[in-house]
Amino acid sequence: MNYQEKISQTVGSIPRSGIRDFFELVIGREDVISLGVGEPDFQTPWNIREAAIYSLEKGQTSYTSNLGLLSLRKSISKYVENFFGLTYDPQNEVLVTVGVSEAMDLALRALCNPGDEVIYHEPCYVSYSPSVVMAHAVPVVVATKKEDGFALQAEDIEAVITPRSKVLILNYPTNPTGAIASKEELAEIAKVCVKHDLIVLADEIYSELTYEGEAGLSITQMPGMRERTILLHGFSKAFAMTGFRMGYACAPPELIEAMMKIHQYAMLCAPITSQAAAIEALERGIPAVEKMKESYEIRRNYMVKRLNEMGLDCHLPGGAFYVFPEVTRFGLTSHEFALKLLEQEDVAAVPGTAFGACGEGFLRCCYATAFDQLEVALDRIERFVGNL
Ligand SMILES: Cc1ncc(COP(=O)(O)O)c(C=O)c1O
Repeated sequence: MNYQEKISQTVGSIPRSGIRDFFELVIGREDVISLGVGEPDFQTPWNIREAAIYSLEKGQTSYTSNLGLLSLRKSISKYVENFFGLTYDPQNEVLVTVGVSEAMDLALRALCNPGDEVIYHEPCYVSYSPSVVMAHAVPVVVATKKEDGFALQAEDIEAVITPRSKVLILNYPTNPTGAIASKEELAEIAKVCVKHDLIVLADEIYSELTYEGEAGLSITQMPGMRERTILLHGFSKAFAMTGFRMGYACAPPELIEAMMKIHQYAMLCAPITSQAAAIEALERGIPAVEKMKESYEIRRNYMVKRLNEMGLDCHLPGGAFYVFPEVTRFGLTSHEFALKLLEQEDVAAVPGTAFGACGEGFLRCCYATAFDQLEVALDRIERFVGNL
């Protein structure tokens, strides 16, 4: 059978993740230190795991409301109010999803008609462009620059606005650059969004992991933005809960209702065991988040110092758990650099181009890796750079 003919043209048109392609090269190599996967090295805090176990012991194995357990939505609403200073009604302004991944997909599908344009900043998380395409919309990329700390500038959004512009995706702190935006930058972006009637998808997944400036700063707080923003957040990063697949969206009722319609047919509800764990995370998990954050910050400072000392120009990322050093001066592309580093020194880092064309010249290294492993990885990178 000609399967290519059978597969939808939309799906056929999207590439596989550049990260996945790169990591297939890692398989089968022993002694590799991976700075590649964007995942906490911590296990989920014990009290959160215990809450999941206890939920199973109690026999909680059913579906929940499509929106998610009301008790969880109440916890989310309280948490979002404390952390972001934003109020959402747990009855109809909060939707529990299977990670931010699902929430992003639902939001794009709920909002976009074929041909609508979705603007986002690159380098960015690998799923944005394919998710936009799968929603039959058109991805519109705004490249961010190292000299702006990889923060999106309002005038660069203005420059790509057309009558089809509908949605803006913002992600601060940013994967893969660790960029954060100032209140002033967000306020300027907000003005553009109001002027051009854009809906914003604010991917706040790294918000708690903000080391510089104010944690909990969101475009949603800017004048005129709450009504036009879907705040997307989750548990994967700050609570080290990637495998629980828990996320949520907060937005005005009409937008939540539209997203919920897709969610109820495609997913029905998020897993009840994970929802029980998520309640525990929000109610009693914050001290553990603070501890993990302290540890990430120490590692960030160490990574940036060592990379700069060895001649890899690396800005200080304001958040998330990635550093994004520049490798251009060696005359290799990002991909060549990453490949040689893997072959010669068994260190896996992701070429910047996996996150968009403007990631050329950079390498993403995730420092959510044990400190002693980071030390060895940096010794190896130093030797590699010394031999180039
Ligand atoms: C910016 C960003 N958004 C969303 C996600 C997906 O998160 P989740 O595990 O909640 O689906 C990731 C995962 O790496 C990410 O980096």
